[in-house]
Amino acid sequence: MGCVTGDIHPNTLYALLIGLCVLTCVSQTHGSDPPFAELRFVREPQDTVTVRSGVLQLDCEAFSDRGVPVLAWRKDGVLLSAVVDERRVQLTNGSLIVQNVLHSRHHRPDEGSYQCLATLEGVGAIVSRTARVTVSGPLRVVVPTESVSTHLGDTALLRCEVTGEPMPVVRWQKNREDLPLTFDPESRVVILPSGSLQVSRVQPPDSATYRCLAENPGSSRTGTDADLRVLPGESRWIIYIYI
Ligand SMILES: *[C@@H]1O[C@H](CO)[C@@H](O)[C@H](O)[C@H]1NC(C)=O
Repeated sequence: MGCVTGDIHPNTLYALLIGLCVLTCVSQTHGSDPPFAELRFVREPQDTVTVRSGVLQLDCEAFSDRGVPVLAWRKDGVLLSAVVDERRVQLTNGSLIVQNVLHSRHHRPDEGSYQCLATLEGVGAIVSRTARVTVSGPLRVVVPTESVSTHLGDTALLRCEVTGEPMPVVRWQKNREDLPLTFDPESRVVILPSGSLQVSRVQPPDSATYRCLAENPGSSRTGTDADLRVLPGESRWIIYIYI
């Protein structure tokens, strides 16, 4: 096997040279005329929260330098043109409209993942990002806010247990006046991620009537009134230490 280097047949060399020439010629032709047509999205559908009986609109727009792309929609992987539902229309500009959004415990035909497809014959097809559509359900108060008694200097926790989809944003009122929305952990009065109101280092002016207000795009609920009573003196735990 010591003869490999000196054994290239002239014909092989000739074929290699022709091959190189062909490659060079092809790439030169392509240099003056771009081989790829452009097909891209100008606008893609966005994640959307809608309400029951409302209207859902998803927008999509595609561009190509070779013609006008044809748009189509699919939901959870299924082409919508294959599913008959007169609540749904695709506008001539491509936007998808769903009227009278349905949403009940066991029937949620409009919620899901939507994608837009852009096709141009002879060029190809592209699929947009996935837009999540959520239908917001009514809010439910799980546990009403209860009154609490707290020793001076202690921490009081007022709970606001409201659920809904999507999760509601919670605000609090003190004697019917809005408390500033603060999530700063250094602040004495904060709304915790759970929606509870935490009052640290309780002082006499904290003694008041509180209520929470929960809101999502579909509805809003006002919690029950609850009193924060401030008891005089330090908490028992502190007293034990000092006795
Ligand atoms: C298509 O038309 C609808 C209704 O007029 C409009 O809201 C939407 O923005 C349009 N879509 C695009 C992609 O321009």
